[in-house]
Amino acid sequence: MSKVNVLMVCLGNICRSPTAQGVFENFVAEQGLSHHINTDSAGTHAYHVGEPPDSRAQASALRRGVDLSPQRARKVEQQDFINFDYVLAMDHSNHADLMAMCPGEHVSKVHLFLSFAPAVPEDEVPDPYYGGGKGFEKVLDLVEEASMGLLEDIRKHHL
Ligand code: 4NP
Repeated sequence: MSKVNVLMVCLGNICRSPTAQGVFENFVAEQGLSHHINTDSAGTHAYHVGEPPDSRAQASALRRGVDLSPQRARKVEQQDFINFDYVLAMDHSNHADLMAMCPGEHVSKVHLFLSFAPAVPEDEVPDPYYGGGKGFEKVLDLVEEASMGLLEDIRKHHL
């Protein structure tokens, strides 16, 4: 069976999408599904390409047992829409940027990540970059919820 490929996307690929990648990877590993699901992340903009995740994002994730330190930022590329089964935007702006560059035959792969967390009232993961530490905790709370729903969706449609 070929792997299911998941790409988490935000603006800079140093705060939200690396957190989403790390949380979802941990969750997949806990469920014993690492051989079936591959997770990556990328940014719609190139400001931070090559950098590790923001130190605040790393510290918050580590307190929940998630190590983001091996990750490095990269920019979304056209090939991603071919390679990945799920291309998941953290907010509406990321979603619009992705849809503007996505080839027509792959638009069904592009979703708001929080569409997999129907019990959560928000539909966006707020950008924590210019705020305080609480923003990073909120990111973690939201991506944990959506990760559970995403795994259910993958089990239903792919595994
Ligand atoms: P992210 O956060 O999209 O969650 O990685 C940001 C990181 C950097 C910038 C904005 C948001 N920036 O403007 O440099």
